[in-house]
Amino acid sequence: MSHPSGVRQEVFGSMPDGREARIFTLRNHNGLKARVTEYGAILVSMETPDQAGNPADITHGFDTLEGWLNNPPYLGATIGRFGNRIANGKFTLDGREYTLATNNEPGGIPCHLHGGVRGFDKALWRGRPTADNGVEFTRVSLDGEEGYPGNLTVKVTYTLTDDNELKWEAVATTDAQTVVNIVHHTYWNLSGDPATSINDHELMLAAEAYLPTDAGMIPTGEIAPVAGTPMDFTTPHAIGERVEADFEALKLGGGYDHCWVLENGRGVRFAARVKDPKSGRVMEIFTDQPGIQFYGANFLDGSVTGKGGVKYARRSALCLETEGFPDAPNKPNFPSCVLRPGQTYRHTLIHKFSAG
Ligand code: GLA
Repeated sequence: MSHPSGVRQEVFGSMPDGREARIFTLRNHNGLKARVTEYGAILVSMETPDQAGNPADITHGFDTLEGWLNNPPYLGATIGRFGNRIANGKFTLDGREYTLATNNEPGGIPCHLHGGVRGFDKALWRGRPTADNGVEFTRVSLDGEEGYPGNLTVKVTYTLTDDNELKWEAVATTDAQTVVNIVHHTYWNLSGDPATSINDHELMLAAEAYLPTDAGMIPTGEIAPVAGTPMDFTTPHAIGERVEADFEALKLGGGYDHCWVLENGRGVRFAARVKDPKSGRVMEIFTDQPGIQFYGANFLDGSVTGKGGVKYARRSALCLETEGFPDAPNKPNFPSCVLRPGQTYRHTLIHKFSAG
């Protein structure tokens, strides 16, 4: 079924409880195609042309809803209420302590990851096409869901423009103070062949500093300069060039898995550029957020079988997760992630695709 806007919608499948999840297809005039589903407000696929004009899907994921229902690496997901990690699954707001699930244990040290056991990525959202070639997903995360305070009303919109931009925007309001960090988590392999490594992809980050972590992958609170380290992507570098360097942060993360501190600026500004030299595909990232987690899929190990039966190998994709800083609720020197009644949380993430 096609909406007047040109957005096509179909039933994707049924949830274990029988509710239907729809899938929406967005196309632009240059042959780009994005598919998004009500389950998890997930980006199911993104097709873009290479330098010869041949389109390919450049995201990891699954062919069916059943596949997406079991998605331990958070492929393509919209993550919340708080993306990334919170130390010990605890934080204090105005003198009251909140306890969240500790669903992750890097280095054997438990922490809260990506919103908990049933985060936003596992919720069934309500989707509807927008007038400008987009889909708007809404849901209410109830007070107490996964231990977070306050009823949070959330809207996530995907828009595909004729400037070859896939825009992802999150907006949220609350009726009680809470913490919010809604994060988009697509795994990209710009070659279009998800069985290849991203070691050849060249990355540039608009960041002079990053957040070192402890053994549990929780930021120490220090803001460290990248200059003179393998974390320096202020000029383009192949990801594989220094990933095995003898550098503490890379050892703790098993490779790149850190939050870079984006250059100061107001509003939406350039954050990252990644290029696959073989296909010529380029993706630029623009955001209004203070940080970007560059995760090199070090935890993928071939145990997840995705689209077309491909077993996703270590470092076969990269995530560029624009975000508030990890563990911000416990770090007074980090930009605040607290949302209070009357305030509006906003997050814009733009992916701009080209080839050449
Ligand atoms: C994020 C984290 C990684 C990992 C993945 C999910 O990107 O930074 O450490 O937990 O999510 O597998």
